[in-house]
Order: sequence, then structure tokens, then C-alpha cells
Amino acid sequence: MQITVICSTSRRELSSTYNLAKQVAENLCMNDKPNYFFLPKDFSHFCLGCMQCFSGFHEKCPGYEELKPIKDSINKSQLIIFAVPVYVFHAPGQLKCLLDHFGWEWLVHQPNGLMFKKQALVISTAAGAGMKSTIKDVKDSLDFWGVGRVYTYKKPIAAANWTEIPPFKQKKMLSKVEKIADRILSDSVNFHPRIKVKLLFWSCRLMQKRFHFNPPDVDHWKKNGWLNKERPWK
Ligand SMILES: Cc1cc2nc3c(=O)[nH]c(=O)nc-3n(C[C@H](O)[C@H](O)[C@H](O)COP(=O)(O)O)c2cc1C
Repeated sequence: MQITVICSTSRRELSSTYNLAKQVAENLCMNDKPNYFFLPKDFSHFCLGCMQCFSGFHEKCPGYEELKPIKDSINKSQLIIFAVPVYVFHAPGQLKCLLDHFGWEWLVHQPNGLMFKKQALVISTAAGAGMKSTIKDVKDSLDFWGVGRVYTYKKPIAAANWTEIPPFKQKKMLSKVEKIADRILSDSVNFHPRIKVKLLFWSCRLMQKRFHFNPPDVDHWKKNGWLNKERPWK
């Protein structure tokens, strides 16, 4: 299975979210090698609000060169894993910056039809609290990207580093994420996307048919045949 792993920070051995994400990626990759991206090292661009992407010129984004390898990797992957520590009850700012660069591909604008056939896993740990809002920061994007299936795993670890977690607790966490990996693998056979993303697709389709808010968006839907009989999950 081809896998993209997006790590919200550049911490590795000491990072709990990285160790958990690695466990899933290595369980599922088989002969493929997971593609890891570490933020902000591999993507450090802030969205400047130039609106080129929404206007149909996403290649003109000032962050395009950095974004392209991540986007290409996601497009080729069946699974996208996000390792997301809680920073003040939310996802770290560098991950938000990355997600901002995919705003134009939300279902309400110019969706990437490939997303409906993908799965994603969001892993979040905190010292104590804030995982729900942190996971939501990422899951909102995944839902509006149209990702077929999204799994989440969250755990308060009462520690700053993976190495401070007692081995029996580490083992428990690793075995929980391995179970999620099993589900991802079994769902990948005869895969079908969640009803939620299909419903979002239908409502956005209606919007594109009725109102022509942004001509590049309408052109995108027309070009893909989605205003007629074509569907991205078929
Ligand atoms: C800037 C910053 C903000 C944090 N905010 C929270 C927080 O709001 N709630 C919490 O329980 N832990 C918070 N933490 C602790 C981390 O979420 C926790 O150590 C997490 O497991 C780190 O994941 P990692 O090992 O993958 O980096 C914060 C840590 C940092 C560096």
C-alpha cells in the first residue's frame, strides 16, 4: 500500500505521534516505502491569500514548489497518515499552514476526485487534554477534501516524550493503532467511500448547478462531468 505520512513536527524518536504513525505505516506499506514529510522542514509556507488557487491557477501559488512533492505523494497514496500533537488545544500552526494550501480543493470549490478512493488516519497525543479539537482541525479538511474513510486515534500520555512513557503503556498504544491498521487493510478491499462525503458531494454539486459563484469552480465540475452522470468514486 502506498502511504504518505505527514508529521506536524520534525521530532522523530522522541515523538509519540511519529512512533505511532510509523507503526501503522510500516505495518501496511508491504513492498512500498512510506513517504514521510516533516513540518515545517518540508513545508514552511504561509498562505498569503493571493487567491491564485481559487482562480484556477494553483501552480502560481508562491508555495507551489514546496507543496508539489507533498501533493504528488498524496495523489499516489491509498492512505494518508497525520501525526498531530496537541499544541494549545489545536493542531500545530505549521500543519494548519499546509492545510490552508488545500482550501481550493475543498468540495465546495475544485475537489480532487482521487480523494474519494483514499483512507486517512489522524493520530493525536497530548499531555492531558485538547485532542478532540485538534483532531477536528484536521478532520474538517479531510471531510471537505472528500477522503473516502477517516480513522482517528487519540491518547493523553502525561509525558512530553515517547521515551518517558512506560513500555507497557507504549505496547498498549501500539497494539491499538495496529488494530486500526487491520481495519484500514480490510476496508481497502472492495473500498467504498463514506456516505458523509457522498452527501457533501451531492450538496456541493447542487450548489455548483444552481449558483455560479466562482466560474473556475463551475468549469472544474463541468470538466469532470460531475454536473452530469460522472461520479468521482466510480
Ligand atoms: C507548544 C505546545 C503546546 C502544547 N499544548 C498542549 C495542550 O494544550 N494540552 C496538552 O495536554 N498538551 C499540550 N502539549 C503537550 C503535547 O501535546 C504532548 O507532549 C504531545 O504528546 C507531543 O506529541 P509528540 O511527542 O508527537 O511531539 C503542548 C506541547 C507544546 C510544545
